[in-house]
Amino acid sequence: MSIINNIEKDQVPKHVAIIMDGNGRWAKKLGNLRIFGHKSGVKTVKVVVEAAAQAGVKFLTLYAFSTENWNRPKLEVEALMQLLVSTISSEIEKLHKQGVRLLTIGNIESLPSKVQKKLNDALKLTENNKGLTLVLALSYSSRWEITNAANKIIEDVKLGKISDSNITEDEFSKYLTTYNVPDPDLLIRTSGEYRISNFLLWQIAYSELYFTEKLWPEFTKDDFFNAIINYQERERRYGKTSEQV
Ligand code: IPE
Ligand code: IPE
Ligand code: MG
Repeated sequence: MSIINNIEKDQVPKHVAIIMDGNGRWAKKLGNLRIFGHKSGVKTVKVVVEAAAQAGVKFLTLYAFSTENWNRPKLEVEALMQLLVSTISSEIEKLHKQGVRLLTIGNIESLPSKVQKKLNDALKLTENNKGLTLVLALSYSSRWEITNAANKIIEDVKLGKISDSNITEDEFSKYLTTYNVPDPDLLIRTSGEYRISNFLLWQIAYSELYFTEKLWPEFTKDDFFNAIINYQERERRYGKTSEQV
């Protein structure tokens, strides 16, 4: 019996975000090049997308490439961009058939034009799908996103589109690249690192955090389901007392 049966159907996190970490260490452990780890990581992505849909998760956000990752060796960055293009090419039809809607967050304009084109086509193709929304964080960092939002707000004030007196949390949120995505209920990080690495700082204000020692290429469907089960055992109090919730 799969442990998916232990998930409470009416308490599934609506949005799960994942910091997919540990590809390089996994490859090294096997005496391989880091890129081998990234290729293997793509297999885990496929498995987890399927698992999320099966569990009834509505939004799955995957941290695939950070602003800071541009500082990696040129060859690795190029290989990652290439992997992105080839993975979208080979998987998009299947995802489309499964009803997956693809979104991106991050500084998409900083990606190579070939990647942007692939992404745009994939976004268009899947825009009306009603199944899982898969959000890819690419060239993403939270500080970039928040600064970018502040700059866009300045522009809109200058244009007279918004008042210059006050801005609410809700209005501010609309300037983030996640404007059309609810905040994550659950954030998972693999590979035994206990940090956020500039990911969704605003949006995870009240997310439940889950860390696992598993390296991303080793992460399985059951690991994903276990994270959800663990999430369901928690009490989300939002500052209130246990008696109030
Ligand atoms: C995560 O794995 C994938 C990306 C950041 C693109 P890493 O490449 O960070 O693997 P480790 O952390 O070096 O093992
Ligand atoms: C975070 O992983 C970014 C992604 C998973 C895409 P990193 O491996 O880049 O983060 P650090 O360097 O351990 O903080
Ligand atoms: Mg890493």
